[in-house]
Amino acid sequence: MAPRSAAVAVVAVAATLLALCGSTEAHAQLGAYNKTCPQAEDIVFKEMTAVLAKSPGLAGSLLRLFSVDCLLGGCEGSILLDSTANNTAEKDSPLNKGLRGYDVVDSIKAKLEAACPGVVSCADVLALAARDSVRISKGPYIPMPTGRQDGNRSSAADVAPNTPKPGANVTDLIALFARFNLTAKDLAVLSGAHTIGKAHCSAFSPRLYNFTTTNSNASDPTLDANYTGTLRGQCRAGDLATLVDLDPGSGTTFDLGYYRDVAASRGLLSTDAALLLDGDTRAYVMRQANATAPDEFFADFAASFVNMSKIGVLTHHKGEVRRQCSAVNPPSASSLAPVTMSAHAVLLASCFISIVTMALVL
Ligand code: HEM
Ligand SMILES: *[C@@H]1O[C@H](CO)[C@@H](O)[C@H](O)[C@H]1NC(C)=O
Ligand SMILES: *[C@@H]1O[C@H](CO)[C@@H](O)[C@H](O)[C@H]1NC(C)=O
Ligand SMILES: *[C@@H]1O[C@H](CO)[C@@H](O)[C@H](O)[C@H]1NC(C)=O
Ligand SMILES: *[C@@H]1O[C@H](CO)[C@@H](O)[C@H](O)[C@H]1NC(C)=O
Ligand SMILES: *[C@@H]1O[C@H](CO)[C@@H](O)[C@H](O)[C@H]1NC(C)=O
Ligand SMILES: *[C@@H]1O[C@H](CO)[C@@H](O)[C@H](O)[C@H]1NC(C)=O
Ligand SMILES: *[C@@H]1O[C@H](CO)[C@@H](O)[C@H](O)[C@H]1NC(C)=O
Ligand SMILES: *[C@@H]1O[C@H](CO)[C@@H](O)[C@H](O)[C@H]1NC(C)=O
Ligand SMILES: *[C@@H]1O[C@H](CO)[C@@H](O)[C@H](O)[C@H]1NC(C)=O
Ligand SMILES: *[C@@H]1O[C@H](CO)[C@@H](O)[C@H](O)[C@H]1NC(C)=O
Repeated sequence: MAPRSAAVAVVAVAATLLALCGSTEAHAQLGAYNKTCPQAEDIVFKEMTAVLAKSPGLAGSLLRLFSVDCLLGGCEGSILLDSTANNTAEKDSPLNKGLRGYDVVDSIKAKLEAACPGVVSCADVLALAARDSVRISKGPYIPMPTGRQDGNRSSAADVAPNTPKPGANVTDLIALFARFNLTAKDLAVLSGAHTIGKAHCSAFSPRLYNFTTTNSNASDPTLDANYTGTLRGQCRAGDLATLVDLDPGSGTTFDLGYYRDVAASRGLLSTDAALLLDGDTRAYVMRQANATAPDEFFADFAASFVNMSKIGVLTHHKGEVRRQCSAVNPPSASSLAPVTMSAHAVLLASCFISIVTMALVL
């Protein structure tokens, strides 16, 4: 190559790389895998479509798994980590025993590792699986920022302080959400996720039996009496394990059913019923319960969900891309990971080499 054309080529490459370096920012963004794994979002969608065709009930489980991950120290995949000999992980806290869907995350991750090894984080797999759960359940399509990295901390001790207490009142719930920069409106909107999925009898049976200390047959008087009867049929006294639809009648469809339930005193969880006891959350519930179309809820849900998906996100240098979602990378893989996973580091190195080469050529 003639020196002049080589110099032109080097300048062009360096300019491109510098532009890319400048655009690398420390937050999740739309299409973070456009270049490194362009088929990533399609792979997740295809796998979720296949899984939910067989087991529609898993949509709720994956949606919940993601929300719990985000509220526990950020959306960094820590809920997926298994306990080790010297650490009890978040998933083994008694409060998280009901979580399901880990094997779905593992199967999606295996497909992604086959296509683009070491590129797509477990935190992003969970975020994309949750957004696809909503979409496949006939809810809104939510453009989901990606580029989250995986954390390496997962402690059962972090769970209680960051999880709504069973029976928490609406003041507690609003305060908990405020810690994540989420508002009372976000609480009313995101609780709408309970339009799909199931709860264990243990999550609401205190409303059915022994509600007062004086009468062991007493139930929560704010729960519709007919519904109480139906629920007592589904959850006999002492049954903690049976799963019951959060939105009976349309438990696998992402619709306005949840708000109609809550407005009619048929919110299953006491925290659902509690939304009627704050002016802002009550007004939102009533408006959606009366709405003829879900458009406003869908738009609100997409916006609040994306904000939730950004809580405590780790980006380059702060986390890793786990090979396996249930365990941190072994030390050797960890030390390689920043090179393979960090487009930022690669770009910076390329820029440096280009500039040095350019200086030598010119
Ligand atoms: C106010 C905060 C929240 C509370 C107190 C709460 C509480 C609960 C509880 C107790 C269950 C039943 C778990 C079980 O028995 O296994 C549940 C299920 C569920 N939650 Fe929430 N949740 C909250 C917020 C959210 C958010 C923000 C989302 C998602 C955006 C969400 C999505 C779900 C889903 C989809 C299920 C069904 C899980 C399944 O089918 O496996 N929840 N929630
Ligand atoms: C990825 O591609 C989509 C669609 O063309 C675009 O909206 C997005 O900004 C791109 N993201 C990046 C980081 O290049
Ligand atoms: C915990 O155990 C792992 C192996 O399971 C070990 O690599 C790590 O050093 C231990 N950490 C502490 C703080 O003891
Ligand atoms: C809500 O519950 C907390 C305890 O979790 C209590 O301190 C507070 O007074 C309650 N607020 C209302 C309005 O009931
Ligand atoms: C909430 O917002 C403040 C101010 O923008 C920021 O410093 C803080 O990190 C945010 N907290 C969370 C949990 O995102
Ligand atoms: C308990 O309450 C239910 C519903 O109110 C009622 O049908 C039932 O007869 C009561 N049982 C006893 C033993 O009082
Ligand atoms: C319960 O159902 C019966 C029969 O469908 C109805 O007559 C009654 O009004 C209902 N009670 C409540 C509290 O909704
Ligand atoms: C209600 O509480 C009493 C006293 O603790 C207990 O003996 C009884 O088994 C409880 N009943 C139910 C249905 O949980
Ligand atoms: C919703 O409809 C109910 C009954 O149809 C009515 O009482 C209530 O005022 C309506 N609320 C709103 C916010 O429109
Ligand atoms: C989402 O977060 C942004 C930035 O903190 C904020 O301006 C916006 O109001 C939030 N939207 C919702 C729906 O929470
Ligand atoms: C966990 O991640 C932090 C932050 O990147 C790092 O300083 C620490 O060494 C990591 N710990 C382990 C055991 O990998």
